[in-house]
Amino acid sequence: MPGPSFTANLGGRVALVTGASGGLGAHFAALLARSGARVAVAARRAESCAAVCEALRAAGGEAEAFRLDVADAASVGAAFAAVEARFGALDVLVNNAGISAAGPSLDLPEEAWDRVVDTNLKGAFLCAQAAARIMRARGGGAIVNVASILGLRVAAQVAPYAASKAGLVQLTRALALEWARHGVRVNALCPGYVETDINRGFFASDAGQAMVKRIPQRRIGTAEDLDGPLLLLCSDASRYMTGAEIAVDGGHLVSSL
Ligand SMILES: NC(=O)c1ccc[n+]([C@@H]2O[C@H](COP(=O)([O-])OP(=O)(O)OC[C@H]3O[C@@H](n4cnc5c(N)ncnc54)[C@H](OP(=O)(O)O)[C@@H]3O)[C@@H](O)[C@H]2O)c1
Repeated sequence: MPGPSFTANLGGRVALVTGASGGLGAHFAALLARSGARVAVAARRAESCAAVCEALRAAGGEAEAFRLDVADAASVGAAFAAVEARFGALDVLVNNAGISAAGPSLDLPEEAWDRVVDTNLKGAFLCAQAAARIMRARGGGAIVNVASILGLRVAAQVAPYAASKAGLVQLTRALALEWARHGVRVNALCPGYVETDINRGFFASDAGQAMVKRIPQRRIGTAEDLDGPLLLLCSDASRYMTGAEIAVDGGHLVSSL
C-alpha cells in the first residue's frame, strides 16, 4: 500500500544516511533529499551509493556518495571527515546500516554473532560518536537510530539481531542523556516488518501470510509508512524529543498473546 509522501523542511541541512546503497537506506536518502537536505549516501558498496546519488540528483536533489564500513573505526573516521570536508557540516545522522543472521542459537557461529553485533551496535555507536563530535562544534543535530520491534520483543532464531537492536535502543537513551547538553538529540525508530526487495518473496508465501495475520492492521509495512516518523525525528518537529523510541509496526507489538 503506497502511502502519501510526506516532506519536512530540511532546507540546507546536511544529512548522512548509513547503509544507503539499497533498501530502506536508499529510500530514506531520497526522502531527505526531497525534503531539501543535502544528503551523504554511505555504505560499503560505493558503486551502488553512486547510483543512488545519480537518481537523487536527476530528481533535483543534492547528494554525494561515500564508502563506509560502519564496523571499522578507521573507515568511519575517514568517511565522516570526507563528509565534513564536502558539505562543511553535519546536522542529521540516520544510523540505518544493519544486518541479520538467522538460525538456531545452539548452532550460531561466533563469527555470525560478531558480524551482527559489530554492524548493528558497535557500528551505530562509532557513527553516532563521529557525528556528535561534528554536531557539538556546530551547536547540535539529530541522530536517528534505526532499531526494530525485535529490539523491544523477541522472535525465534534471530538472537544476535534482537540483542543488537535492544542494545541500540538502550544506547539511544544513554547517548541522549549525555549529549542533550550539546544540543544533540538521539532517538530510535523501531520498524515492524517492512516489505523490501529482499523479503518480498517471503511475505507472499504461506508462512509470510501467516505472519501478516498476527499484525493487528493485517498488512506488512511499506517504506513509505516510515516517512512521517523518520522526518519527525530528523527535523525540528521533534525538538523536545530525545532518548525516545517510536515503533512503526501496524500494532504488531501490541498483538494479542
Ligand atoms: N526491512 C525490515 O523489515 C526492517 C524492519 C526493522 C528494522 N529494519 C532495519 O532497517 C535497516 C535497513 O534494513 P533493510 O531492510 O533496508 O536492509 P538491506 O536492504 O539489507 O540494507 C542494509 C544496508 O546496510 C548496509 N550495510 C550492511 N553492513 C554495513 C556496514 N558494515 N557498513 C555500512 N553499511 C552496511 C548495506 O549496504 P552495503 O552492503 O553496501 O554496505 C545495505 O545498504 C536495518 O538496520 C534493519 O535492521 C528493517
